[in-house]
Amino acid sequence: MDLNSNKRPDSMERITTPALARAFIDEQVAALRAEIGDRKVLLALSGGVDSSVVAALLIKAVGKQLISVHVNHGLMRKGESEAVIEVFRNQLHANLVYVDATDRFLDLLAGVAEPERKRKIIGGEFIKVVDEEASKLSGIDFLAQGTIYPDILESDGVKAHHNVGGLPEDMQFSLIEPIKLLYKDEVRVVGEALGLPHAMVYRQPFPGPGLGVRCLGAITRDRLHALREADAILREEFDNAGLAGKVWQYFIAVPDVKSVGVKDGKRYEGWPAIIRAVNTTDAMSATIEEIPYALLHKITDRITQEVEGINRVLYDLTPKPIGTIEWE
Ligand code: XMP
Repeated sequence: MDLNSNKRPDSMERITTPALARAFIDEQVAALRAEIGDRKVLLALSGGVDSSVVAALLIKAVGKQLISVHVNHGLMRKGESEAVIEVFRNQLHANLVYVDATDRFLDLLAGVAEPERKRKIIGGEFIKVVDEEASKLSGIDFLAQGTIYPDILESDGVKAHHNVGGLPEDMQFSLIEPIKLLYKDEVRVVGEALGLPHAMVYRQPFPGPGLGVRCLGAITRDRLHALREADAILREEFDNAGLAGKVWQYFIAVPDVKSVGVKDGKRYEGWPAIIRAVNTTDAMSATIEEIPYALLHKITDRITQEVEGINRVLYDLTPKPIGTIEWE
């Protein structure tokens, strides 16, 4: 296959089985070794499906010549940075640089309420952090990216603004994009064949700016913490109820609004946690999952009892259109 072409050949078979995935992996590993030789590759590893699969492919091809940088921008879901470290550093023995940049991001975002400005700050700072890490390393020749085929097809379309993790064109590296001709379902089959954990390969889509677009308005550390904890409870309860593999995307958003409540006989002002659970095939339109009421009650009880600062739980029933999937 021509590694540098941006056009998927009509003859390319859809990768649907472990055998087809292994054939793809063997072909790519050979091609990557031939291209990279004994040089070094840098990858910004978010822990999302695409960058994880690219990392695993490159580790197989060139081992420690791949340097993965995981930037924790402080807007990850609970446990996600820890999972990246566990899988890539401890299990796959990757050359992983972990940067906890939480304070940098949250300090820059303090007081910023406007959604597009928040996205720009997060995207811009992300590039800066990766750039700084790259300049500390010597002899990097290549930059790897988890571009997939829909990114190429949609790059000038509706979702162009979503490519927050995209790195600047003026970096002095040659680009390596080993999965750029694959569709998402194929990336997942390849990821499993590479031995990545199921939870990582079937991870829900998670926006580059992460919880930053779900902690609505100006982000504060206490509200962000409440959001992360409530989100973890939602995920746990969806897992237990068997909904995790069935619902396309589900999360909590916490607006910057307080209402009056009662806790332990006293006035308790808190934020509402808004549940969003949607089904879609392409994220251009979405329908609402009919969650059993008993489960909604259980989630409400747990979030209001366990999460400091939350005193109500709401369920967003709005399909897309008219509501977008995210609130910002
Ligand atoms: P909306 O909110 O536009 O979202 O209906 C559609 C899908 O895109 C995801 N999304 C993002 N993904 N960076 C991303 O990588 C972003 O900035 C971003 N914003 C939204 C969203 O989670 C949904 O799956």
